[in-house]
Amino acid sequence: MLSISGSREELAAWLATEDEGRIQALLSAALSQKTALLGDSVHLRGLIELSNICNKNCLYCGIRSGNARVERYDLTDEQVLEAAGFAQKARYGSLVIQSGERRSGAFTRRITALVREIKRRTNNKLGITLSCGEQPLEVYREWFEAGAHRYLLRIESSNPDVYARLHPQDGSHGYEARLEALYRLKEAGYQTGTGVMIGLPHQTEYDLADDLLFFKHFDADMVGMGPYLEHADTPFYALRDSLWPQAKRLQMTLKMIALLRLMMKDINIAATTALQVLDAYGREKAVLAGANIIMPNMTLSAVRHNYQIYNNKPGIHDDAELSKTHLEQNLDRMGIRIGWDEWGDSQHFGSRKTKNPD
Ligand code: 5AD
Ligand code: SF4
Repeated sequence: MLSISGSREELAAWLATEDEGRIQALLSAALSQKTALLGDSVHLRGLIELSNICNKNCLYCGIRSGNARVERYDLTDEQVLEAAGFAQKARYGSLVIQSGERRSGAFTRRITALVREIKRRTNNKLGITLSCGEQPLEVYREWFEAGAHRYLLRIESSNPDVYARLHPQDGSHGYEARLEALYRLKEAGYQTGTGVMIGLPHQTEYDLADDLLFFKHFDADMVGMGPYLEHADTPFYALRDSLWPQAKRLQMTLKMIALLRLMMKDINIAATTALQVLDAYGREKAVLAGANIIMPNMTLSAVRHNYQIYNNKPGIHDDAELSKTHLEQNLDRMGIRIGWDEWGDSQHFGSRKTKNPD
């Protein structure tokens, strides 16, 4: 089997190669690696986009606080619980509650109550992942004690200079603060997921090689990586002519997934929705390059169009049922099996020694 040493030079060379034969060999080695250790099923996490209200103003994101053209929403508790009921009935095994970043006592208490209630109503059967941004340790602890056991917080780019260019320099978008939040998540006991965008303005193959080395050094349990996609109502839209073509962003994402799978054999790697914008079978292709997690959208169709972090987000007119049908059909067509009703936890978490690396 193809093996990689994981040096920076080697990773950057893989990311730069355009040799189709070599790329195919890489992707299929990653698929064999995944199948050998984790089996051939993908695990699902039904996604609830709880609210698009966000206090942050990231320069690339369509729901940034500075975008006045977005209609803001907050699902009601009943709507969230209904979606959780759907996840259980659909046998997804887990759900993700994602929202823009808000730090307030009311928001904290609301998430705590929702997590508890979902756990109660589903007899602890549904695994719960949260993705609600940077929070103090006490908040992460409170949500963990309520029953959430996985958390996603992307580093976005592991290069502090690239990170600085992605965010306004207003004192509330610091690279160090983000990194510290990731450490707090481990401290609180979560299976901790991070990730990056691929094909950002100012980003090079070497930056992406460094992102892979960052995941390894941080000892992540889960990683979600997706292509950067333009959104017309963001400052980054002005840079659209400098981007890699979409086909290249797709291929780079597949290569990143495959390289990561060969470097970190037992972690969970997500096939992200953003891939589906570039290719109708983008997520399935990611699974065939070593990813093992998919997050089908369960957000109410009435508000879906308001959670557009990038333009052309797929399925915004679909409801949860239709998203499920489409996904099942696609996976079936590509010969990929689903691990119904299972949590699909990161195997890495069970064996990981470090709470926080140096
Ligand atoms: N393109 C791709 N991904 C994006 N995200 C935010 N904006 C965009 C965009 N324009 C990603 C970020 C964030 C996640 C929730 O969505 O990586 O962490
Ligand atoms: Fe808010 Fe996340 Fe978008 Fe940044 S990327 S503006 S934190 S939703």
